Amino acid sequence: MIKLSLVVCSLVVCLGQIQSAPKLICYYENWFSYPSHGKGQMFPKDIDNTLCTHRVYGYNSVLPSAEVNNTDPWLETSTQYHQLYDWGHLKGEDKSLIAIGGFTFAQYLTYATANPTLFTTNMVNFLKKYSLDGVVLEWSSVAWKYEYMESYVVLLKHLKEAFAQDKYILASIIAADQPGYDIKSVAEQVDFVIIQSFDYHGSWNTEVGHSSALEDQKISVNRWVENGLPAAKAIVTVPAYGHTWTLSDPTKTDVGAPASGPGTVGPFTNSTGKLGVNEMMLRLKDTPGWSRKEDIPAGAAYYVLGDQWVSIEDEKTAEVKGNWVKSAGLAGIAVQAVNNDDFNALGSTTKFPLLRALIKGFQ
Ligand SMILES: *[C@@H]1O[C@H](CO)[C@@H](O)[C@H](O)[C@H]1NC(C)=O
Ligand SMILES: *[C@@H]1O[C@H](CO)[C@@H](O)[C@H](O)[C@H]1NC(C)=O
Repeated sequence: MIKLSLVVCSLVVCLGQIQSAPKLICYYENWFSYPSHGKGQMFPKDIDNTLCTHRVYGYNSVLPSAEVNNTDPWLETSTQYHQLYDWGHLKGEDKSLIAIGGFTFAQYLTYATANPTLFTTNMVNFLKKYSLDGVVLEWSSVAWKYEYMESYVVLLKHLKEAFAQDKYILASIIAADQPGYDIKSVAEQVDFVIIQSFDYHGSWNTEVGHSSALEDQKISVNRWVENGLPAAKAIVTVPAYGHTWTLSDPTKTDVGAPASGPGTVGPFTNSTGKLGVNEMMLRLKDTPGWSRKEDIPAGAAYYVLGDQWVSIEDEKTAEVKGNWVKSAGLAGIAVQAVNNDDFNALGSTTKFPLLRALIKGFQ
């Protein structure tokens, strides 16, 4: 099949086809190694390194000295929890990346932009030390200011140049609503850009809604592509969790129905209003009576039982998203995060059902 296509297509077209195999970028949140997550506790070794093209370890930070700050408190002190070491050494065909910044630490990226030469040297040494393949810089919207734009591009240029020799991967993240962003200049420096296409609705809304409907994601992606992000560098984020509500009136269950607050907290994420795909699958297995409803025009599914309302990704919606990314020629999908997928098959018959559904959608 491959031989035949090489014969019948021009070199350029064939290369185009090879490049279009979507990436699957799997995030891991290092705090899920803490025992408080119960049966949802996960270590880097639990990741199936045959499913994802890239793994991202979240999240590290930057010190005032422009050094990378290890935020994992056990990193140097415990061999049991030697996670970052494992991260570089447990890989298969997949690439192992480190995320710097994110929701909590994005504010400290100014220590990197303040001294791009020194940070770049430190970053390369860090990647070498832990046998990593690259970095994702994450200036999420909470900490972002328009005035950072120019120095951020300068930092990316330094990193790109230093990464060339060892072919380290350089990526950046942008929030779906980041204002005043020079996406063209950022896109020129990086291998890919991850768009934070999730959390469109959650229990902070007093009406139930879709957490990450396909139609909302399309709007976000199109906005960045229209502003200069090449589709071939655009990564869509698919959350491996959903948002929950308690309905004000259990007889009113349509999208937009009033809610009195978040739904029942799940045992693994233990986070108000948030529920992992693994927790939902366990609920579906253990509690009869859930009904699955689909909002076909929006491209989203939700689950209802009594006064509980959950907007969440499932295997069916994930496959559709994989399909869209492939057919739209986008770079791929980032999953936030694999520790919320049913990685140990507690509720489903196979490990990592969400990842597998996305991969099926890529076919
Ligand atoms: C869940 O979170 C609450 C509040 O942060 C805490 O008191 C409780 O111990 C946590 N439960 C588990 C199982 O981690
Ligand atoms: C550095 O990491 C530690 C956790 O090990 C964290 O408490 C601290 O806030 C971090 N500092 C910066 C500047 O990122």
